[in-house]
Amino acid sequence: MIIISTETKTTTGIPLIQLLDLEKQYLMGNVPVDALCGINLSVEHGEFIAILGPSGSGKSTMLNMIGGLDKPSKGIVKIDGVDLTTLNDSKLAKIRLKIGFVFQFFNLIPRLNARENVELPMSIQGISRTERRERAEKLLETVGLKDRIEHKPSELSGGERQRVAIARALANNPDFLLLDEPTGNIDSKTANELLKLISDLNSEKNVAMVMITHDNNIARYAKRQIHLLDGKIVKEVAT
Ligand SMILES: Nc1ncnc2c1ncn2[C@@H]1O[C@H](COP(=O)(O)OP(=O)(O)OP(=O)(O)O)[C@@H](O)[C@H]1O
Ligand SMILES: [Mg+2]
Repeated sequence: MIIISTETKTTTGIPLIQLLDLEKQYLMGNVPVDALCGINLSVEHGEFIAILGPSGSGKSTMLNMIGGLDKPSKGIVKIDGVDLTTLNDSKLAKIRLKIGFVFQFFNLIPRLNARENVELPMSIQGISRTERRERAEKLLETVGLKDRIEHKPSELSGGERQRVAIARALANNPDFLLLDEPTGNIDSKTANELLKLISDLNSEKNVAMVMITHDNNIARYAKRQIHLLDGKIVKEVAT
């Protein structure tokens, strides 16, 4: 049986993401930079939250900690109740399969077409060629790119590239997507279309979304807005 990557998620009762007294300090030579200063946050399965704040306020640092791409200086990051800071690399890699990443600059492989880009995370997972192909095509259809399957990134618009990136992020059937300025390089009309897609994936497939944005219009699609300033949560708004 082929498990389609966009199946609806079920909830477990344990928060999806928990940040407890999270701190991150970078060292620039001898000079410490406090990027995160005691962040506490809990995100439930299926939630859609936006993270806002000025440049340098710690948004990407926080997202990287949630995704296990970087380690905190202090505090705890839990995904489904599992403390990432205690895991070795292979266990961390397994947890990362629950997470899809979407970035501002798409990060697609230029010489691969849309389908091959979406297949890539599945081939790393050892999924068979036929199944990979079928799942990739189904995902590209889900994001509205049925007619662009054979196009390379250079043959796609910015919005279409980001749709491929979203399809790729969904390839391993993640519990949530981490999106860092997904509309940063896209005009506002296309950005709104993308957000409709992201909202639909959230409400119909129950994929939780943690999305960084500078843009208040884009943040409106989230049900909860977290505002960061100087590495601290200064405001939380429910919409
Ligand atoms: N690898 C690093 N080494 C040193 N300092 C860093 C590093 N990464 C980030 N910083 C610093 O940490 C702070 C938070 O950076 P971060 O990238 O999280 O901000 P941001 O809110 O995502 O900003 P932007 O909106 O510009 O993307 C900034 O002061 C930044 O200069
Ligand atoms: Mg950033």
